[in-house]
Amino acid sequence: MRSVLVVGGSGYLGQSLGRTLGSRGISTYNSKPVPNGLHFDASETRLRDLISEMSIEPSHAVVTYGAINPEFCARDPVGSAQINVHSVIEAMRDAIDAGIVPVFLSTDYVFDGTRGARNETESTCPTTQYGAQKVAVEEWLHNQNAPWIIARASKLVSGARDTHSVLGQWVNDIQDGREMRCATDQVFSPALVDDVARSIVQLIDHAAIGIFHVAGDEAMSRYDLAKTLVETVEDLTPTLSINLTAAKIHDFPFLEKRPLDTSLDTAKLRALDITSFRSMKDLCTDIAREHFS
Ligand SMILES: NC(=O)c1ccc[n+]([C@@H]2O[C@H](COP(=O)([O-])OP(=O)(O)OC[C@H]3O[C@@H](n4cnc5c(N)ncnc54)[C@H](OP(=O)(O)O)[C@@H]3O)[C@@H](O)[C@H]2O)c1
Repeated sequence: MRSVLVVGGSGYLGQSLGRTLGSRGISTYNSKPVPNGLHFDASETRLRDLISEMSIEPSHAVVTYGAINPEFCARDPVGSAQINVHSVIEAMRDAIDAGIVPVFLSTDYVFDGTRGARNETESTCPTTQYGAQKVAVEEWLHNQNAPWIIARASKLVSGARDTHSVLGQWVNDIQDGREMRCATDQVFSPALVDDVARSIVQLIDHAAIGIFHVAGDEAMSRYDLAKTLVETVEDLTPTLSINLTAAKIHDFPFLEKRPLDTSLDTAKLRALDITSFRSMKDLCTDIAREHFS
């Protein structure tokens, strides 16, 4: 099994990929150094320079990096596209030129959210800047005469409390007695970040090519995911007062209207020999035990 370059190895998914790959992984970081990481700032470094200095030739480059906050993309469409579209395309062109297969991390926001369970054959129809930027990169890849993988993820979660994992953030909210106001009409396919990382490595090791929805099997609203955590915490600590309230996604003052149902059909991934994902119920039970026993 060959080495794999993780461009954006200091991020939430990148760190999980690094743990999964072990000694096969070569990670880059930008502002947050990781052990044995290579510095890569897309605004000033070309990936080809980094690749040419590497003593090991990776088979794949997983391109996870980017400015991934939809609000940032909406506020600064030009600046965010510089990172998320132009620099990412340049990095993937450098990978292809070096004979490395690019694995691009895309999103469920490539769809408009008017209905869920979309599969890989359906046309993209983004309604946000973030989604449109991902589609621009996907379209560029489609026109390349070289193998590639597009891994579309939905909500990545874990019990980590110091990153953008909703479950970890809700643990903080519960412990601090803060209100958890969650949309009942924002639906996604949440998956444990480590399951997504492991599936991406399995796709690489199966020499898969094409688009894959690398997401959980359960379509859930944000509210229902929060409720799953709350109920497992309440089972352990019935006297704890938890303030979970229901809302609609369009009640929140986002710069763009967020898509409603971006759940993904994962049948194509499941048809491969890919290890199954943790259920959100089991994950919430573990998180509740860890923090509230
Ligand atoms: N998180 C989710 O729920 C989710 C859902 C669907 C799809 N995705 C996709 O999955 C991928 C990974 O997401 P994530 O949550 O792991 O993101 P993340 O935690 O925000 O990580 C972003 C990574 O990009 C690096 N980076 C940012 N700007 C850079 C620049 N100018 N040059 C070089 N590197 C730069 C960061 O490096 P430093 O931290 O070192 O600065 C970090 O390693 C993204 O493409 C995202 O669109 C994520």
